[in-house]
Amino acid sequence: MEHLEGSVAVVTGGGSGIGRSLVLEFAAAGMHVVVADIETERSNEVADEASALGAEAISVTVDVRHSDQVSALADQAFERFGSVEVLCNNAGVLVFKDFADSLIEDWQWVYGVNVMGVINGVVSFLPRMLKGGGPGHIVNTSSIAALGATGIYGTSKAAILTLTDALADELADSPIGVSALIPGMVKSQIVAAERNRPADMGRRTEHPTQEFAGLVGLDPTLCAKRVREALLTGERYVFAGIPEGAFDLETVPRQRFDALMGAINAGMVSED
Ligand SMILES: NC(=O)c1ccc[n+]([C@@H]2O[C@H](COP(=O)([O-])OP(=O)(O)OC[C@H]3O[C@@H](n4cnc5c(N)ncnc54)[C@H](O)[C@@H]3O)[C@@H](O)[C@H]2O)c1
Repeated sequence: MEHLEGSVAVVTGGGSGIGRSLVLEFAAAGMHVVVADIETERSNEVADEASALGAEAISVTVDVRHSDQVSALADQAFERFGSVEVLCNNAGVLVFKDFADSLIEDWQWVYGVNVMGVINGVVSFLPRMLKGGGPGHIVNTSSIAALGATGIYGTSKAAILTLTDALADELADSPIGVSALIPGMVKSQIVAAERNRPADMGRRTEHPTQEFAGLVGLDPTLCAKRVREALLTGERYVFAGIPEGAFDLETVPRQRFDALMGAINAGMVSED
């Protein structure tokens, strides 16, 4: 995108943490915003904050696990604003559990939000964004956890990184850019994600208390500022909020890459 002012952004998970920061960053950039979240009250509050910054803002209650709800979100956004230039598939949840202790509902809930939520966003918005013909951008929130094996959550975020790569390749010749936001350790309510686990998604797991949530991590505006830049530069991988030295980013991904290359060679056969 060459400029942001006057564009319309939809942010899922916009009621808290990184999503809220994205909404306010976009509003400050002169964009209009649709704040979409399962938590209606917080979503309304963030829309009010964006309005106070001069944006036209609406709040929509949505559970991104459900394609019909995300489709209705797209209907509302296009009806209200006539176009959507920026889609941030950002809503996400976290469970702290080993595979051996995990119930199928843990997988279903985390994948429902973190993976199907992003897919629902792409399916409902992308065709209409392309039809609009103008420049636009899709930002999918992955995680530093995608680069190292970290339980159900890490695998869901690895799926989003791969999905983002595939989508970016497919849209390379289109006016729609694609980026993965890859946060490290950001102050938010993510460790209290279980607050949004529906009753039919299995028992809630032990998790740090609500009081703990929002106390640790870096400022989420670091993510929002990097995303704002990426909308203009089109960069694919948007790392943000990575505390220096907190993750072994030098060896973990490199060892995996080296191991993969070795294994690929071991499986290679001549066709002769
Ligand atoms: N905070 C971090 O350190 C960190 C690191 C890496 C990745 N992330 C990712 O960033 C994204 C934002 O998380 P955050 O850290 O701001 O946490 P957060 O809990 O503060 O915000 C997440 C938002 O998603 C909403 N949400 C949850 N389930 C939903 C559903 N089914 N439908 C719609 N909305 C739903 C929540 O109500 C909340 O407003 C997530 O995808 C998360 O996995 C966060």
